[in-house]
Amino acid sequence: MNFEFYLPVEVLFGVGYLDWLGEVGRRFGYRVLIVTGRKSTKENGALERAISSLKRNGAEEVFVFDEIEPNPTDKSVNRASELVVRERIDYIVGLGGGSSLDSAKAIGLVSSNEGYAWDYVNYPEGPRLIPFLNRPVICIPTTAGTGSEVNRYSVLSNPIRKEKLVISHSLNYPRVAIIDPQLTLSMDRRLTAITGVDALMHALESLTNRLSNAFAEELAIRAIQLIREWLPVAVEEPNSLQARIYMSYASMLAGIAIDKKRVALIHGMEHPVSAHYPQVAHGEGLAALAVAVSDYNYRGNPQKYALFAELMGYEPKPHMAVKALEDFLEKVGLRISLRELGVERDNLEKLTEDVYMLSRSLFSINPVEPTTEDIYKLYERAYEGY
Ligand SMILES: [Fe+2]
Repeated sequence: MNFEFYLPVEVLFGVGYLDWLGEVGRRFGYRVLIVTGRKSTKENGALERAISSLKRNGAEEVFVFDEIEPNPTDKSVNRASELVVRERIDYIVGLGGGSSLDSAKAIGLVSSNEGYAWDYVNYPEGPRLIPFLNRPVICIPTTAGTGSEVNRYSVLSNPIRKEKLVISHSLNYPRVAIIDPQLTLSMDRRLTAITGVDALMHALESLTNRLSNAFAEELAIRAIQLIREWLPVAVEEPNSLQARIYMSYASMLAGIAIDKKRVALIHGMEHPVSAHYPQVAHGEGLAALAVAVSDYNYRGNPQKYALFAELMGYEPKPHMAVKALEDFLEKVGLRISLRELGVERDNLEKLTEDVYMLSRSLFSINPVEPTTEDIYKLYERAYEGY
């Protein structure tokens, strides 16, 4: 057995922990920027609680950048980074779903180095610039799925280039994750399912890809067990705090697993979808692709797919992993096709090309190394929804 493990993120996990923000943040300074979305953290009171915790603990100035959209863009990261420099912000708080957390982390990095957000994203040839500084970031998730609060990834979209790429650098880790499962109670059923499926895909893809890291696999295995048991409960009973607690925990475990073992082709094929169709949520795109891609992948790692099937409560046979996924997606209301998500058939070729242009570094770690023809066929299947 061999593995490497490095995780420079302090994790504070517990119901009500949002109120600790001010006390945690004071060690980083007095001028704070909160990065959040336009609506939900205002409606559910999380933003107000965050601000008052900061003020109670001596923050002098609290700025709010509330322009983060789903599938966040490089442009908003650049704009917020300018604000950080102009207002001499000491540290940044990301409060919200994956978009807000990914943006906050990227703002911490971009505001501390030269250039713009797109200079730091990972093309297959590598990023254009290498960062050498960052700024403290505290991540507070209000959804359970992204795992962004505990890893180094920021997924950003560039609407002009129609590209979705990832910043992945050790300076992009948040300094602290405050995971308060209570904050996820305000998600509706659909958002609960979409974000929960993202966590499941992180666990599935990190468990089954060709990289080896025994410790990360333990995390993925536990995440799968918990998601199988608790995501349907969270979807059925959105007020179940117990289900929310386990989903926040599972999402964190899976978020660490992908930090160590990366993802695979389901994510690689999803990013072009939401880059070209920004109305598609990441988790919806994943749900539409999961069955077709897993049906292709399981032969490449039969042992792990059999384990996945078993963890999902099925006979431990590799092909049963596909059945397990189909049934589970059905159960949480996400057995959907790319067509239903508004993807146009004529665009499948362009999407295929983008997977090759932008995500081919994942090909060699996918359970089966795909050709572009394979990818096109998988898009066709996912388009039809079988
Ligand atoms: Fe994801």
